[in-house]
Amino acid sequence: ASADIGVYGLGVMGANLARNLARHGHAVAVFNRSHQRTERLMARYADEGAFVPASELADFVASLRRPRVAIIMVQAGAGTEAVVEQLRALLEPGDIIVDAGNTFYKDTQRREASLREQGIHFVGMGVSGGEEGALLGPSIMPGGTQESYDRLGPMLESISAHVDGTPCCTHVGPDGAGHFVKMVHNGIEYADMQLIAEAYDLLRHVGGLSVPEIAAVFRSWKDSELDSYLIDVTTEVLERVDPATGAAFVDVIVDAAGQKGTGSWTTQSALELGVAVPAIAEATFARAASSSSAQRRAVREAALDSGAREIGYDTAEERQSFIDAVRQALYGSKIAAYAQGFDEIATASTTYGWDVDLGAMARIWRGGCIIRARFLDDITRAYEAEPALASLLVAPTFATALESVLPAWREVVATAALAGVPAPAFASSLAYLDQLRAERLPAALIQGQRDFFGSHTYHRTDDPTGVYHVLWAEDGRAEEKWD
Ligand code: 6PG
Repeated sequence: ASADIGVYGLGVMGANLARNLARHGHAVAVFNRSHQRTERLMARYADEGAFVPASELADFVASLRRPRVAIIMVQAGAGTEAVVEQLRALLEPGDIIVDAGNTFYKDTQRREASLREQGIHFVGMGVSGGEEGALLGPSIMPGGTQESYDRLGPMLESISAHVDGTPCCTHVGPDGAGHFVKMVHNGIEYADMQLIAEAYDLLRHVGGLSVPEIAAVFRSWKDSELDSYLIDVTTEVLERVDPATGAAFVDVIVDAAGQKGTGSWTTQSALELGVAVPAIAEATFARAASSSSAQRRAVREAALDSGAREIGYDTAEERQSFIDAVRQALYGSKIAAYAQGFDEIATASTTYGWDVDLGAMARIWRGGCIIRARFLDDITRAYEAEPALASLLVAPTFATALESVLPAWREVVATAALAGVPAPAFASSLAYLDQLRAERLPAALIQGQRDFFGSHTYHRTDDPTGVYHVLWAEDGRAEEKWD
């Protein structure tokens, strides 16, 4: 047995991960269901390092040194299930199977429990950074046992992105923690993208800026707290001119956003855990709404009187101040969205006993992944200063930032509503913050309604643990205290 680690599945992501490992001096066994892919990898990249190709799965397994580590990089779902079963039959106690795909964390929990019975470690591992990241340094989020991380960790840390000399990889926690954190990373990615898209739309349709002007605005935001990979990506997309038509590239793309499921999983899991993640949910719903072409057409053709106001900015100064307000609204909403994502991780960590270090999650997202940004340093520092932070919103850096952006943020949300330009994630992030800061919420009225029609009971402000019910149907409407 001569290979340090194996990669099963040589699509672009798998092949790049294998090459990254080989380039870092690890001997990598490679296997793919159709052997052609393995041959192609060897023909093109064999000189990049020590590869051990196999055409039979048994040879692949036999080439791995013990305890064996096999990374699976195949399509999540049925594909992963089948490969896990094939490997299970060939591996021994102490060996480690790593699923590097975007798998739903409950599937990972189920597989982990079942393989544990056989003494095999199953590691659900989030990998972010797309194809380029897999090759040049991704952000890596492995779950599973500490024992498996002791064997795997050094290899993974060597191939991950590094920021300030620190690897963007750490042991997230046991069980499905790695895949859960990757799922929430994607949920935050959805929210961040939607917020940026809303900023673009407002600049264009309220601010009256042209696409190249908006690209220049985004480029200038690199020098602000918004500096991030997604802002870079946005700038590049907006700067592109379609060669065929000469139009702005963004104008030739069909405006129906796709999705592969991780945003919905994040939202569904939040609903299940009872955590509010409105920015992530709005971003997911916005993709769905954009893709509801029949409904969009029907409502558009109904030509409803929108009641929208014509809003214009006459002077350069007014326009600049609107651009600035949008930047502040974007920053405020971004803080709210990240606070929601971290809250979801914190809640899952408590629910499942994972003990996830939230500051470390922000640290491993600083490089390699899609949401990489300067901003994440502030999150790491916030959790280092106060590991039990109730919400990122109250960390001193963010609380101060929110206070300074809130007036502009309110202005932008109100303007968007008046102008009839949809900004669901901006608006719901603001409402989220206002809900959390309110002294009293109308939830009291909801409790009253629930008690009225379903005897669902309520607590009193002067007796918060007592259970009360009003005898609504009786004349006196007496209040009873229940046990
Ligand atoms: C990453 C990305 C990657 C991705 C998802 C989401 O971390 O490298 O999050 O996992 O972009 O595939 O894709 P959809 O937008 O298609 O859901």
